Amino acid sequence: MAFLGKTSAFLSMRALRDLVFDSMAIDMGSASTIISVRGRGVVVDEPSLVAVDTLTGEIISIGNEAQQKYGREARGVAVVAPLQNGVVADFERTRDMLAHFVGQARGGISHFSRRALMGVFSDVTPVERRALLSAAQHARVGRVGMIEEGLAAAFGAGVSVHDSKGSAVVDIGGGTTNVAIVAGGKIIRARAERIGSSHINAAIINHVRRHRGLLIGARTAERLKLELASATVPTNLGRQIPINGREVVTAMPQSIEITAGEIYPVAQEVVRNIVAGISATLAELPPEVAADIYDRGIILTGGGAQFGGLDDYLREETRLPVRIADEPKYAIVRGLEAMFDEPLLLRRMVRSETQLALDLESDFS
Ligand SMILES: Nc1ncnc2c1ncn2[C@@H]1O[C@H](COP(=O)(O)OP(=O)(O)OP(=O)(O)O)[C@@H](O)[C@H]1O
Ligand SMILES: [Mg+2]
Repeated sequence: MAFLGKTSAFLSMRALRDLVFDSMAIDMGSASTIISVRGRGVVVDEPSLVAVDTLTGEIISIGNEAQQKYGREARGVAVVAPLQNGVVADFERTRDMLAHFVGQARGGISHFSRRALMGVFSDVTPVERRALLSAAQHARVGRVGMIEEGLAAAFGAGVSVHDSKGSAVVDIGGGTTNVAIVAGGKIIRARAERIGSSHINAAIINHVRRHRGLLIGARTAERLKLELASATVPTNLGRQIPINGREVVTAMPQSIEITAGEIYPVAQEVVRNIVAGISATLAELPPEVAADIYDRGIILTGGGAQFGGLDDYLREETRLPVRIADEPKYAIVRGLEAMFDEPLLLRRMVRSETQLALDLESDFS
């Protein structure tokens, strides 16, 4: 009896600790940073952008606020994306940005984070991993564990940790496409390509400049991507929207009309490259795994999965069933959250980390 009493007292201490201290899931991507806190859901979903003073290098604003300035920077202000194509391009700004978002994620009743899980790109180098770890330490998130994004995306999309059959999960982000084949709570194949949805934006900007003589900003390109472009042939090729920008030749403000038919092949080229990468990974699978995938098809996650008609195009090209996960942009943080409930798996993951993470084990058991 005394023993039982002691155990329950211990458990309630632990429950109390979980209440006061947050467990955070962090998906810092090249397009957006998403943070969810256990029990509170997604608390941060903001663009991974930083506005800096070009003279002093000082940070003026971060996230949504920085995006407002994007393309309309005042003199002496530059808006930068510290993460590019999934890697840390600017360490200091990445660190400050993460610290800012983590600070924002806190609040409410719990002010401390005890442990955090962070998604990392599958071919992250030890140097990049250390940079991310150091950024997380600076943000004081507590103990940090790093989990391969493909695994997190799979769990977040509803694949069970205990499912021994193979599942194919494709995460299309802003700068990357990550294909992961998961079985039994492990990654059995992963391939990351540094091409993502933001490459569609770049192709659109390039096309409009070269063929229509108009310079357009990032926000206009995003609007064209979301409202007009598609991965499959548009039903109404003539549908058009007006866009404003600066004329290349005269440098004067100008407005033109762009049609769905004009933008379709531009986006299609990028989509074709993304899909070719996915197909190449699926073509190399061991027969048993290929058989599982044939039955189950592909699950799409990431913000880029929402691009119009992408699922249909992928279905046509691979001849496999394709489904988009619920709230695809949040699949990785949802998966990381789910891992907090799988102590054995978490322990194995964290143990498989190198040096730095080894002493974190106690907190993940
Ligand atoms: N409805 C939509 N249609 C098309 N694209 C979309 C839509 N919603 C979001 N996106 C695109 O999704 C991308 C952001 O997705 P996500 O947040 O998964 O990227 P990320 O994780 O920051 O990037 P990465 O993982 O490559 O570092 C952006 O390029 C955005 O334009
Ligand atoms: Mg991502």
